[in-house]
Amino acid sequence: MNNFLAQAFLSHDGLVSDKWEQYLQVYDAFLRERIEAGIPIRLLEIGVQNGGSLDMWSKVLPTGSTIIGIDIDPKCASLQLPPNVRVRIGDASDVQVLQDLLGDAEFDIIVDDGSHRSSHIISTFRACFPRLAGDGIYFVEDVHASYWPEFGGGFRAAGAAMEWFKGLADALNTDHFRPVDIARPGVDELQAFGKYLQSISFFDSIIAITKLGQTKDAPYRRVLSGTTADVSSFSRLCSFLPAQGLRSLRLMPASDAAFSADLQNALAEAKEEIAGLKALLAAEVEKSAKLIAENADAETTELRQPKSMQGSRFFAAVVHRLRGMLRGQTRQR
Ligand SMILES: C[S@@+](CC[C@H](N)C(=O)[O-])C[C@H]1O[C@@H](n2cnc3c(N)ncnc32)[C@H](O)[C@@H]1O
Repeated sequence: MNNFLAQAFLSHDGLVSDKWEQYLQVYDAFLRERIEAGIPIRLLEIGVQNGGSLDMWSKVLPTGSTIIGIDIDPKCASLQLPPNVRVRIGDASDVQVLQDLLGDAEFDIIVDDGSHRSSHIISTFRACFPRLAGDGIYFVEDVHASYWPEFGGGFRAAGAAMEWFKGLADALNTDHFRPVDIARPGVDELQAFGKYLQSISFFDSIIAITKLGQTKDAPYRRVLSGTTADVSSFSRLCSFLPAQGLRSLRLMPASDAAFSADLQNALAEAKEEIAGLKALLAAEVEKSAKLIAENADAETTELRQPKSMQGSRFFAAVVHRLRGMLRGQTRQR
């Protein structure tokens, strides 16, 4: 294995640590640049056991880094660890315990290697992701246990941690949900995560979740650049954007210069089309109003059934409303 984390781990001779070999590649891919930058890192690891991974983190992280380990086993409190490592004892699946142990401490890296029970992994994530600093990374180890019923999981089982994290991937795209889906249960939590979530990556038995450096307070914008659009015209590209996307479109200066005439034409054409449609609608409304009036006369003379009366009243109300709308829009123009 050609990576320095793997080398540090494999040549480690202190307290015993227990990791799957593929994790070392994942840690190397996500952390190498950060470690090489030499800026101190604040790391939290849930699950201490023999203290081996805390010992190893203290060897590989830049000078000045601080490491906190949490374990439910009180024996972990007596481990002999380097001075920049602290061990706290408590149940990491309990939000209140975490609050008591950590207060408002922030971390750059969080590793969950605790009980591996699905419900614990999820509650710990909910409680600790807010403690992750911007650009921070959250690792969940041993998610293979999520496929095992004795750990509260199962293949595609409701409540399994893997299923929950697969669902969390939807948080990346809530800005594109249709209104009918936004109203569905659980979407508010996804929207809240979506403001902070940058990525979620799945590997064999380990998940890496990265946090945005800056909160996403508004949907990302479409950017159009370039000056030649021979296959799909510029105005056609724009016509596919929803109104909000069109308002927030970022048009680069060269494109702006190349396509402003195109856009003006498209706007004029759209206005003409709308005017035509309004005229058509007005004619249809008048026709329907006439038909309803004739129908109502017939109903009074022939003493029709109340049901059909209800129908004509309904259409009369629709026509009334459409007339009102058309009048309102004419005034706006
Ligand atoms: C897999 S071991 C940790 C190994 C260690 N991270 C390493 O790499 O060497 C899991 C540890 O999680 C602890 N643990 C289990 N349930 C816990 C909980 N609810 N809260 C905190 N720690 C827990 C266990 O006591 C055990 O020491």
